[in-house]
Amino acid sequence: MAGNVWRSMLSQVVLGAVRRPALPSFARGMQTVTLIPGDGIGPEISTAVIKIFEAAKAPISWEERNVTAIKGPGGRWMIPPDAKESMDKSKIGLKGPLKTPIAAGHPSMNLLLRKTFDLYANVRPCVSIEGYKTPYADVDLVTIRENTEGEYSGIEHMIVDGVVQSIKLITENASRRIAEYAFEYARNNQRNSVTAVHKANIMRMSDGLFLRKCREVAENYKDIKFTEMYLDTVCLNMVQDPTQFDVLVMPNLYGDILSDLCAGLIGGLGVTPSGNIGTNGVAIFESVHGTAPDIAGMDLANPTALLLSAVMMLRHMGMHDYANKIQTACFDTIRDKKVLTKDLGGNSKCSEFTAEICRRIQDLD
Ligand code: NAI
Repeated sequence: MAGNVWRSMLSQVVLGAVRRPALPSFARGMQTVTLIPGDGIGPEISTAVIKIFEAAKAPISWEERNVTAIKGPGGRWMIPPDAKESMDKSKIGLKGPLKTPIAAGHPSMNLLLRKTFDLYANVRPCVSIEGYKTPYADVDLVTIRENTEGEYSGIEHMIVDGVVQSIKLITENASRRIAEYAFEYARNNQRNSVTAVHKANIMRMSDGLFLRKCREVAENYKDIKFTEMYLDTVCLNMVQDPTQFDVLVMPNLYGDILSDLCAGLIGGLGVTPSGNIGTNGVAIFESVHGTAPDIAGMDLANPTALLLSAVMMLRHMGMHDYANKIQTACFDTIRDKKVLTKDLGGNSKCSEFTAEICRRIQDLD
């Protein structure tokens, strides 16, 4: 049951994730994708994805780019021009985790990427995986997080020694844009309800504005049930019974936390895919876990999250046959429980798990 939900879910996610007029038209034949392997376990799980795509004969040509923060004209932090050019051209990226050195002086690389390409919507489907038992069954929800402002606007300063201030920026435009996206998503994906998650009782002006825009947009989507809930109530209800939720839309920080919580319900960050949808047809798909420095270079990483993100990407590009093949091989491998990485309860290496998926893909041919 859950597996079937996953199958339809992943196929719907990306179709719904980008409004159709913005979809880039991908001609048949080889397509270029910008690959940002990232740090820590990033290169290992990227290699796994490349091998699995090769086994599936997916017509993707990877343009690999490293992303580190560099200082541009006027001292502004930016991503390297060759990475920007590649993304501008391909429009599609697949990204592993990037480390954010604390106190390095530059903003989070993930933040920089989001700002550079105006990746305003982070979409994370959290759907139970058949054969991978967690305390929760039949989870089937989607978190939609405003990705560009809110608590992560990066506006911080010291007022006086020992006192710092961080500004939570909420704008009418960004709030309306994410609300419209969430409702549009719900409609395109046959979902029934959208819940706006907020703390407007405390942050009356900022969350108040966000909520007001959600309410206004909801007026135009009478076919979708709209509810509003306090973040703390959502957390409580989520761990009691996640099946009551459908699509949830929220400002940046709440989305960051809640989407991780939801990932935990289905087995953790190692199995949760994610898509970042931007303006001008740009989209970057990424694993949502970090660089896992404790296991980096040890062939212990689980590549599933990056692989399922890559499957989302294939569907976004209209390559459903390849997506189906890879997804089936991945889920069958997990359901069989014979070759699993440690985080999934097994003893296999990343390379062995990858080889098993490749073998199953060849069997499917
Ligand atoms: P983390 O996600 O890297 O690690 C937390 C735990 O989960 C560790 O025990 C790790 O071994 C495990 N884990 C994570 N991914 C795994 C996988 N694919 N397979 C098996 N086990 C996995 O979180 P942490 O330690 O807080 O962050 C480390 C670095 O990653 C930091 O520099 C942080 O800034 C960065 N980071 C990057 C993200 C991104 O690029 N999207 C997201 C979160 C953190």
